[in-house]
Amino acid sequence: MSDDLAHHRSTPASARRNCPPGEEEGAEAKARIEAALTSFLDAKERAGAAGSAVPEQLASVLSELIGAGGKRVRPLLCVLGWRAAGGTGLTPAVVGVAAALEMFHAVALIHDDLMDGAATRRGRPAVHRQLAEGLGAGLPRDRAERLGESAAILAGDLALTWSDELLHTTLAPDRLAAVLPLFSAMRAEAVYGQYLDVTAAGRHEGGVPLALRIARYKTATYTVERPLHIGATLAGAPAALLDGLSAYAVPTGEAFQLRDDLLGAFGDPDRTGKSAWEDLRDGKHTLLVALARERATPAQAHTLETLLGAPALDQDGVRRLRRVLVDSGARAEVERRIAERRTQALDALHALALPDPVAAQLARLTHRATARRH
Ligand code: IPE
Ligand code: IPE
Ligand code: MG
Ligand code: MG
Repeated sequence: MSDDLAHHRSTPASARRNCPPGEEEGAEAKARIEAALTSFLDAKERAGAAGSAVPEQLASVLSELIGAGGKRVRPLLCVLGWRAAGGTGLTPAVVGVAAALEMFHAVALIHDDLMDGAATRRGRPAVHRQLAEGLGAGLPRDRAERLGESAAILAGDLALTWSDELLHTTLAPDRLAAVLPLFSAMRAEAVYGQYLDVTAAGRHEGGVPLALRIARYKTATYTVERPLHIGATLAGAPAALLDGLSAYAVPTGEAFQLRDDLLGAFGDPDRTGKSAWEDLRDGKHTLLVALARERATPAQAHTLETLLGAPALDQDGVRRLRRVLVDSGARAEVERRIAERRTQALDALHALALPDPVAAQLARLTHRATARRH
């Protein structure tokens, strides 16, 4: 055998193609998750067209939202949790559960955009906007908008039902019994986080601790910690592994949200696919804002007071608010806290001593989640 061929046989395919470790495995998982979602949604659309009790328009906006992409962070973490706990291969069960997590994320996005009055998601009109256009043609504008909002609540409810269906139809009873409590906890935590987010907006109470609590519950649990736990539990992970995964997941998830807060105030909507500065217009209690309030000079405090949460906030107001967020040092402090959490997460990952392709993928995910521009 030539040296070249011997090298070829003994080296993993990813290394041969100069891919970072685990990259190909991740791409394969992503493709399988996409296929599961597409075939599920196509079947629903067909059922609607054939006269079953599936609202066709809702099935089609859900297909569009999910088909419009997204980073698929949650389903990929579910697969990585499974691998971290020794699960091998991409079984229908792990793929189905991963798809159920992405379907749950769709619920969160639809209802979040409705609550936040957001116009755009994943580079397209938000679901309530699409439904207002599609279903409200010919109606007065306010009635069309109301209809779009009502239908978007139902679209979210439908996606929640379908997330459950994906879970229940792919898992054997013992695995279902093992992951259901985690799924329930995840959903309740996400509701709690969103509740804190909407009730804290426009108020001054709570400061930095409340902002961090919001980030943890509205994002870190359902985006990172619970998907990892759910995948690991499918593979029979012991409690100690779940704790170790939490030590990695919580700082990664919080940093993911802190980055999202910065993108919400300073990001480029062409990249994020979301409208710019809604957080500022809604007076959202983000860490960025809480820190700016703590550090503001009287003049800066006055700007925050008058412009944050102002319904008619315009480009000039945004420019002034951004200046305060930068000059008060709040933006730099959020960056510092993101970097601090990244280090904590990578240290916790190191301590877990997971096999390399899994550890490398998790490390990469932390880097991407904390440095992303979309
Ligand atoms: C939306 O989630 C934002 C937060 C939960 C912080 P993602 O950033 O994962 O959105 P997609 O799925 O990539 O569109
Ligand atoms: C949706 O994404 C976030 C959740 C569903 C928690 P956004 O990027 O719109 O996040 P928020 O609304 O600013 O938290
Ligand atoms: Mg929100
Ligand atoms: Mg939002």
